[in-house]
Amino acid sequence: MLLELKNIYKNYIQGTMEVPVLKDINLCVEEGEYVAIMGPSGSGKSTLMNIIGCIDKPTSGTYLLDDVEIEKCKDKELSEVRNQKIGFVFQNFNLLPRQSALDNVALPLQYAKVSVRKRKQKAKEMLEMVDLGDRLNFKPTQLSGGQKQRVAIARAMVADPKILLADEPTGALDSKSGLQVMELFDTLHKQGVTIIMITHSDEIASYAERIVKIIDGELYEGDAQPKTDETDMPDSVTIGGDVHE
Ligand SMILES: Nc1ncnc2c1ncn2[C@@H]1O[C@H](COP(=O)(O)OP(=O)(O)OP(=O)(O)O)[C@@H](O)[C@H]1O
Ligand SMILES: [Mg+2]
Repeated sequence: MLLELKNIYKNYIQGTMEVPVLKDINLCVEEGEYVAIMGPSGSGKSTLMNIIGCIDKPTSGTYLLDDVEIEKCKDKELSEVRNQKIGFVFQNFNLLPRQSALDNVALPLQYAKVSVRKRKQKAKEMLEMVDLGDRLNFKPTQLSGGQKQRVAIARAMVADPKILLADEPTGALDSKSGLQVMELFDTLHKQGVTIIMITHSDEIASYAERIVKIIDGELYEGDAQPKTDETDMPDSVTIGGDVHE
């Protein structure tokens, strides 16, 4: 098993209140799987993604990533695990605005202590892979949204991580650029990369092989639905219906 989350809880402290956000999440993902995470706004998807990506730690529960017990890791070990095993893609690209596409993509290799010449070579190859071989020296402001996201994917994958985590990767894109991103994800999936992607779109989610839902901090898969007290529901409400906002 590549990743295994057991009884994960996450509470945020808000003033003197403790706000429960994730409630008893159990999720196993095998190497090479392609998983979509769906659910309403505020349900805890990004919070879960940050835990999976070792950006944040759960309040309680255990998380095994590639046999490493994440909750026992010190911050330094955690950033090593993160740099080696995980690539991130975000809705708003998160590129460094003053750096060229090439330098943005080369950046993760700096942490991996690769020589400057090799970094540039590998970054160039990655940009060619995402069909941006003719935009190496363009800065983010000189690129379209779809191009920026392809730079971000090249950067996420440059250090050969096993896992690609994507938080609404097509959320800021037009449908054509969104589909290009999905084609790239398909290519990476075929190469054996494990992909976990948050999306609000049924069409985008249909590219994944497996869909899990988070509703009010709880995870549901397959036909399972949140327990609803039917006696409280007016007739017009469809129980277990569409949860999208
Ligand atoms: N740093 C934080 N401190 C306090 N509360 C937080 C923090 N981050 C998130 N939350 C709360 O946790 C809940 C879940 O947030 P999260 O960002 O995981 O939702 P989401 O499912 O990703 O939503 P969206 O689809 O809008 O991106 C929200 O109610 C939010 O207010
Ligand atoms: Mg989110």
